[in-house]
Amino acid sequence: MIRAWVTHLRSSGKIAFAVLRDGTGICQSVFVKSQVPAEVWARFAELTTETSVEITGEARAEPRAPGGVEVGVTDLTVIGPSPSDYPIQPKEHGIDFLLDNRHFWLRSARQRAIAVIRNEVEQGIHDYFYERGFLRVDTPILTAAIGERSGLFATEYFEEGNAYLAQTGQLYGEAAAAAFGKIYTFGPTFRAEKSKTRRHLTEFWMIEPEVAWNDSNDNMRLQEDFVSYLVQRVLERRTTELAELERDVEKLRNIVPPFPRLNYTDAVALVQRKGSDTKWGDDLGAEDEALIVADYDKPVFVFNYPKEAKAFYMKENPDDPRTVLCDDLLAPEGYGEIIGGSQREDDYDKLVARLAEEGLQRDAYEWYLDLRRYGTFTHAGFGLGLERTVAWICGIQHVREVIAFPRLMHRLTP
Ligand code: 4AD
Ligand code: MG
Repeated sequence: MIRAWVTHLRSSGKIAFAVLRDGTGICQSVFVKSQVPAEVWARFAELTTETSVEITGEARAEPRAPGGVEVGVTDLTVIGPSPSDYPIQPKEHGIDFLLDNRHFWLRSARQRAIAVIRNEVEQGIHDYFYERGFLRVDTPILTAAIGERSGLFATEYFEEGNAYLAQTGQLYGEAAAAAFGKIYTFGPTFRAEKSKTRRHLTEFWMIEPEVAWNDSNDNMRLQEDFVSYLVQRVLERRTTELAELERDVEKLRNIVPPFPRLNYTDAVALVQRKGSDTKWGDDLGAEDEALIVADYDKPVFVFNYPKEAKAFYMKENPDDPRTVLCDDLLAPEGYGEIIGGSQREDDYDKLVARLAEEGLQRDAYEWYLDLRRYGTFTHAGFGLGLERTVAWICGIQHVREVIAFPRLMHRLTP
């Protein structure tokens, strides 16, 4: 017996086929008029796309059937009929229409392949850190204005004024690293960014390891090892899904350590040679990132950016105090920055000065400063954007397709 949804129907008058989808895959069911009771044959005629059914019969291997298995039906029950105006039809639909119907769009084979690969990556992340002795720490989502520079979502919080949805778990991750050594966070993060690019969501998932005693070099080594592990794991375990997405897997096989490393200053020189207007001191934009990765077939580290282009918590570079010990990891094929990481400023006075320069309210950060007052320590960490990473591995152009229900600037439903 199978419970499933009908995806495809075909009948010749004497023999009829219904292709079924049960969430794990598809399976063809066959109705032979001369072999099934008359009422079962009549019920077949009622079926439409997405009718939910219960089917009894005998399964047999059938290489010509989609999914490789066929069920010779003996009984059919209609559980939930589906009106003939089911919105998603086998034709080209515009992206807005598909997103409006995301709850149905998820039923397609392509969306299933993406969801399965995302799940593989998520499980890979947990396995990777678990096997290496990292502790997973869940950091708060409701915070008091602490995080990155981008826009904040605010909500009233009892008598405490505004609470803000977390843009990052990092600062809490640092406190946890002082307590537990090696930790990672895995949670939703929120940015009220008015960006309508193919890389921005307002709600996305971020994985943020934080490691006591790691410096910036250790940090980059961990990043390349981690990212390579995730890519190789998907290649090994999710061949069917990568094929469904027509992903060029040769490009992924290449993703093994070490990744090329480019000093920020050299990166600026490179993009200028290629015609960019970017000047030393600017952050690198999406176009610059594309110019940089064009020369490589692996992810590329750009490291040690100018202080003013980056967040207050990054450690000043002792060899060039105009810069900080940080890195962005740029994915190949133009998928952009998938990781932002840094060694953290562990000097109390320098951190206080940076907070002031950035105009940040010191009282919200007192507990964070405490980490430098009581047993300060060398430490480094990074944030991997899950959707950008999965989009790259899947070869999907836009991050909105790799999360079940994307939150975008102009989209809050479904
Ligand atoms: O570079 P970001 O802003 O770094 C941090 O938040 C640090 N606190 C991380 C850390 O050191 N613990 O963000 C990290 C990554 C980016 O590289 C990108 O992959 C992803 O998060 N990201 C987004 N993904 C989708 N939509 C957005 N609006 C994103 N903003 C950042
Ligand atoms: Mg960044």
